[in-house]
Amino acid sequence: TANSERYRPAFHHTPLYGWMNDPNGMVYKDGVWHLYYQYNPYGSKWQNLSWGHSSSSDLVNWKHHPTAIRPNGLGYVFSGSSVIDKDNTAGFGNNTIVSLYTSAGTNQMQSLAWSTDNGETFNIYPGNPIITLESEARDPNMFYNKYTGEWNLLLAHALEHEMLIFTSPDLKEWTLKSAFGKGLGSQEGVWECPDLFELKVRGSDEKKWMLICSINPGGPFGGSATQYFIGDFDGTTFTPDKDMEGNVPTKWMDYGKDHYATVSWSNAPANRRIAIGWMSNWQYAAEVPTRQFRSANTLPRDIELFKAEDGQVYAASAPSPEVAKLRDKVFIKTGRTSVTKKPRTFDLPAANDGICEIQMDIAAKKAGKVTLTLKNDTGDNVVMQYDVAANTVSFDRRNSGITDFSQDFPAVTTAPAFSSGNKIGLRIFIDRSSIEMFEKSGKFAMTNLVFPNKPYNSITVCTDKGRAQIENLVIYTLKGTK
Ligand code: FRU
Repeated sequence: TANSERYRPAFHHTPLYGWMNDPNGMVYKDGVWHLYYQYNPYGSKWQNLSWGHSSSSDLVNWKHHPTAIRPNGLGYVFSGSSVIDKDNTAGFGNNTIVSLYTSAGTNQMQSLAWSTDNGETFNIYPGNPIITLESEARDPNMFYNKYTGEWNLLLAHALEHEMLIFTSPDLKEWTLKSAFGKGLGSQEGVWECPDLFELKVRGSDEKKWMLICSINPGGPFGGSATQYFIGDFDGTTFTPDKDMEGNVPTKWMDYGKDHYATVSWSNAPANRRIAIGWMSNWQYAAEVPTRQFRSANTLPRDIELFKAEDGQVYAASAPSPEVAKLRDKVFIKTGRTSVTKKPRTFDLPAANDGICEIQMDIAAKKAGKVTLTLKNDTGDNVVMQYDVAANTVSFDRRNSGITDFSQDFPAVTTAPAFSSGNKIGLRIFIDRSSIEMFEKSGKFAMTNLVFPNKPYNSITVCTDKGRAQIENLVIYTLKGTK
């Protein structure tokens, strides 16, 4: 009905109908970004797990394709990854898309499928399963290792809280080489959805490997979240960096409650590493107040590494540059604007249910806290606060609208601001039922769902004391993509 569709995102990827969880098997081929995903084509709860399929030529406009891989004799089709087999190592032909996924039947096994029609349809390998272990292992993520000339594969050894690392010459025969993670990071929940890749550290020639590991529960604000480790990888073993005390720090790719199962595109051009995450949380994903569909993916994010003041390397996640294509008109643009304890209010666009991008640079000056509040005329609000002394940015959705479908939904989430003074630049994307906030160079990302009774139609800015300056406030109206 119109009522339950009011939360359908206008510019985020979402299935037209049915349930979605993790993004799967993302691969770039011949100018097309393929996005597969955990999908129930028959209803909006977690069942009949298949690989749904969408594609895009620009990462923001998505075409929907028929379900790519359906449950088969070995069970449901769980998460996995795809590569382009340029040199035909697997024998299905040059440049074939080869995918690995988890067959989840009575136990979890890894299966192979390949596509010779650019990802539209898949052949299921008759020799499946290709990896069988005694304990729960899932979400195979593979890549070609140019240093060793072999394929690498990470498999989440879910209940053991570790990632298994394999090698293969041909994508079919895999040899277990090592396990990473026992006793490290968050150990409360299952380990899921690995990814591993090498990136340059911004502003230097140093290269580091980033290992992504989703965990559920055990996230910093409850339930699901995506942690990562920075370190070195020699083709068989991942060695994590340590902090000054000699410990392996736990780092988070996003500091909201709704960012999970994040993995990256294989074969992206120009050395880009682009990731997308499932914008929900297993605590309440099946209960959110949408009906015909459930869940959307985050905006695509370009992942880069940066060195912070503590000497540690962290991942930056900024919206991919293609996201700027969504901008329609400049709705508000101010020069330098002072704010004090007395709130200043700016309208938000009414068109298209208020979908918009807000950018601003805040110079806190003598203020200790600068507060941004989104409001509508039904009394709903979202409170975002930059706290200079704590060097954090927080997001309070306790009064954001419909929150009572789960006791775990009302929450305040907090991110390190990574600011080296009393200034911060923010980018905020509002899309009907989600808010993504970024430090403008991606030093933190924070993704939270919201279900306002009516679209937020204003943003107020104030300080706790003293005068702060807002520089370059720009509010853009955005084009919907469907
Ligand atoms: C993560 C996950 C994966 C699994 C899939 C099943 O959200 O639990 O580990 O493959 O979802 O839908």
